Amino acid sequence: MTDRLRLGVNIDHVATIRNARGGDHPDPARAAEIVARAGGDGITVHLREDRRHIRDDDLRRVQDATGLPLNLEMAATEEMLEIALRHAPHAACIVPEKREERTTEGGLDAAGLHNQLAPIVSRLGDAGIRVSLFIAPEPRQVEAAIRLGAPVVEFHTGEYAHAFDDPDASDSLARELKRIADMAALAAKNGIEPHAGHGLTYENVQPIAAIPQLAELNIGHYLIGEAIFNGLEASVQKMRQLMDEAR
Ligand code: PXP
Repeated sequence: MTDRLRLGVNIDHVATIRNARGGDHPDPARAAEIVARAGGDGITVHLREDRRHIRDDDLRRVQDATGLPLNLEMAATEEMLEIALRHAPHAACIVPEKREERTTEGGLDAAGLHNQLAPIVSRLGDAGIRVSLFIAPEPRQVEAAIRLGAPVVEFHTGEYAHAFDDPDASDSLARELKRIADMAALAAKNGIEPHAGHGLTYENVQPIAAIPQLAELNIGHYLIGEAIFNGLEASVQKMRQLMDEAR
C-alpha cells in the first residue's frame, strides 16, 4: 500500500469566478497558498485551449506562490507542449479536450492515439516532467500507458461519481469501483503510479481513497464549491481527513 494518499487540489474554478468579472479577484495564486497551509500536497490546473479559467500568466504566479508541486493538465498539442516545457511543472497530466465540453468528459484514448502521444510523452519525460495520462479504468488503456512508458496514470472517476449519485445504479457503482481497483492494481504491478480524480466529493471519496495502490487524488470543483460555504482551508482539511480515515 502507498502510505500517504496525496491530495492535489484543482484550483481552476477560482479562476472561473475571477474571469466572470474580468478582474484579478479571486486570485488562484492566493488559493494555492491556502491549499498549502491546509495540508494539500499539490496544485492542479488545466490550461485549456480557450483559457476559460486558468490563463497563461497564472502558471508562473501559482508556481511562485507555494513550494507545492504543480500538476499541469494539458491537451496533447504542440502549443501546450511548448508551454509545459517553458514552465517545467512537476507533472503534466495529458487530458482529452473538446472545445464544447463543460469539463473533461471522458478519458484519453491512449490506445488509439499512440502515435500522437508518444513524442509528447517522451519530450515531457526528457525535460524531467512527470507525465500522467488521464484514462478510463480499462485494461486496454493501461496497456497503452505501459507501451507509451508513462510513469503515472490518472483514472477518470466520473462514471463512478455518476453511479454514486444514482439510487438505481448500485450494480454499476460496484462495477465501477471494482474496475478502478483492478486497474490501479494492474498499473502498480507494471510500475506505473496510479492516481484518480473527477467528480469526487466528501460523500463518495472514501471507497476510492481506500484503494491501496492509489497514490494521489485530484479534486477540484466540489472543493471550490464547498469553499464558498466553509472556506477553502477548512474544505481542504476536511477532504484530507476523510481520505486519511479511509486508509
Ligand atoms: N483530474 C483531471 C485530469 C481533470 O481533468 C479534472 C477536472 O478538471 C479533475 C481531476 C478534477 O475533477 P473535479 O473538478 O470534478 O474534482
